[in-house]
Amino acid sequence: MAASSKALIPETLTRNEDWTIVLPRRGKQRRNSPRIITPKEEQKPWCPSEIESDPHRESMLFQRMLNCIKKMESSQFYQNFVDQIQTPDVLSYFYSVLGSELNMQMVIYGIGSIELYEPPRLQLSLAILMKRKFSWVGDIEIFDPILSATEARVLEALGCSVLSVNEQGRRCAMKPTLFFMPHCEAELYNNLLQANWGAMLKHMVVFGNSFEMYHQHVTEFKSSTIVNTAKHVLAVRRFSNEFGIDVISDDYFAAFHDSGWHFFNPDLGIELQLI
Ligand SMILES: C[S@@+](CC[C@H](N)C(=O)[O-])C[C@H]1O[C@@H](n2cnc3c(N)ncnc32)[C@H](O)[C@@H]1O
Repeated sequence: MAASSKALIPETLTRNEDWTIVLPRRGKQRRNSPRIITPKEEQKPWCPSEIESDPHRESMLFQRMLNCIKKMESSQFYQNFVDQIQTPDVLSYFYSVLGSELNMQMVIYGIGSIELYEPPRLQLSLAILMKRKFSWVGDIEIFDPILSATEARVLEALGCSVLSVNEQGRRCAMKPTLFFMPHCEAELYNNLLQANWGAMLKHMVVFGNSFEMYHQHVTEFKSSTIVNTAKHVLAVRRFSNEFGIDVISDDYFAAFHDSGWHFFNPDLGIELQLI
């Protein structure tokens, strides 16, 4: 369900960008308490708050994205990222998710504003390069409720389909799906896991915040917020495998710190319990 990019547009950016990072950056406090997405929250049709896209801003942003993709492609960070995927251990997990399918769709949630911030640009560049590099990565669908009309048009120009429905992260992985969710809030990962709780977990791989770190956070700081809003995130680690991303330089820290790949091996012989 791609949004019609013709119907999108902005003059000035008036959106409220008060994101919260789920886990504090090393040694720093969170800026805000997390936005709560309750499990019962409905999936709603969405379109950008601005009415029209700005062609000048569009072409500036498009060029900026091309530069960012180029920078990412020539980086040691990207080389390490690709090398990690190609290690037999990690690759076998991707192939296991693929099963007999030729490719897995990529769904990107929570990319953030690619016009305002560098981390979202780097994250998007990585996703686009991954699709270019690996034939088993299929089409890209993307959604973030804060996207502007200009950003939506640039994303479409880069080959991504912008969703016109806020799924609240509850996409069911009926077929192999790579969920690319860099630095999303715990509730969004939780919604996704809850929607796929059971056999469907085998059809998905999640790139996102380290679930292991959520567990450590709860153990260390007794964070009741995470315990209450991320039950599935905490429970899934008992039957998942996580591979952390090596950030290697400060240039990539903000965009990828504490991130990793998550693969799931639900034991279907027993009911998956939330403890
Ligand atoms: C903590 S920010 C991270 C943004 C960016 N990935 C980064 O690292 O800077 C979380 C993002 O998730 C987005 N988000 C919130 N609810 C969402 C939903 N239902 N579907 C997709 N994205 C959502 C927010 O708008 C925000 O841009």
